[in-house]
Amino acid sequence: KIYPVILSGGAGTRLWPLSRALMPKQLLPLVSDKTMLQETALRVRGWPGLMAPLVVCGNEHRFLVAEQLREVGITPSGILLEPVGRNTAPAVTAAARHLLADDPDAIMLVLPADHVIEKNEAFRLAVERAFRLVQDGSLATFGIVPSVPETGYGYIRRGEPLPGCDDCYKIERFVEKPDRNTAEGFVADGGYYWNSGMFMFRADRFLAEIEQHAPEIAKAAESAMHNAYRDLDFCRLDEAAFTACPSDSIDYAVMEHTRDGVVVASDIGWSDVGSWSALADVQQADAHGNVQRGDVYLDGVSNSLVRAESRIVAVVGVKDLVVVETNDAVLVAHKDQVQRVKNIVDHLKAQD
Ligand code: GDD
Ligand code: MG
Repeated sequence: KIYPVILSGGAGTRLWPLSRALMPKQLLPLVSDKTMLQETALRVRGWPGLMAPLVVCGNEHRFLVAEQLREVGITPSGILLEPVGRNTAPAVTAAARHLLADDPDAIMLVLPADHVIEKNEAFRLAVERAFRLVQDGSLATFGIVPSVPETGYGYIRRGEPLPGCDDCYKIERFVEKPDRNTAEGFVADGGYYWNSGMFMFRADRFLAEIEQHAPEIAKAAESAMHNAYRDLDFCRLDEAAFTACPSDSIDYAVMEHTRDGVVVASDIGWSDVGSWSALADVQQADAHGNVQRGDVYLDGVSNSLVRAESRIVAVVGVKDLVVVETNDAVLVAHKDQVQRVKNIVDHLKAQD
């Protein structure tokens, strides 16, 4: 059986001022009228062989997560609560332990809660291809053909092709978040994919890998799960054990080290909508290249994203801008500079 494990613990700071600590990106309706979490859960609903999702999120988001799933008629197989964020490796480790308690053959399909996938059927077929590979113990990634030397992604060098699976390869090398020069080399090389951040593997195989490559995380996360307790519909990880867990991502902790990684090349219209410009790119623009939402007045504006949450926003005679209004903050940024938005959040945090 395949269990979708939805990671819903990120902060989405590059989408400030809309994305906030208590209302992060994945819990917002950014692209459609449904939230990113709802879109993620609905995307895989009803696929053959797939069970109800297990959601892993921060304690402070528990009611929002439960309510958003209920709203779209999804009953999760569980909601695991992290007392503190310790990045994705501990979250996935705890989820693996949770699933193995009931199903020793559990297969996990790890899905970030905040991605856009435009070609759902192609994605379903990619998961089917991965399913064939993971049964023998491989750890599968979904690789995206890179278009720009993005430094915020993991890069996967493909090795030998795998028989019986079209466009599937051994992973020769996995490099998480390379510097600019290295990323440029990877894109020019042509033999690299972006790591989409979605994974598929047997839960027991993942545990064996984390025990080998990051034993402290394995120990702390497993003990947090071992001492977890039920509270309403939630499963609370033990606070002391999880707080003591080192923080690391699955990419650094496992994928850079495993010898059993495979990549399923996936043309699925993927975007992690990590920034305001990425969000503009996945939305339908008007004839002037503008994406607008809410009570917006535009005159002589092109290639811009303008979003009004609580007031009228009027923009005149500019191009290439991101303007986002919320009831307590306003962002105006050049579209080419939106990566710097996360510095604003760092700055505000330092002031607190
Ligand atoms: N439950 C939980 N707990 N979820 C978390 C936590 C946590 O502590 N930290 C992050 N997440 C969730 C985020 O909400 C997001 O959906 C996903 O896990 C990935 O975390 P990011 O923080 O967004 O990772 P990244 O963007 O730096 O890098 C990853 O994604 C890239 C593609 O978007 C890596 O897997 C890269 O290799 C990959 O290219
Ligand atoms: Mg991300």
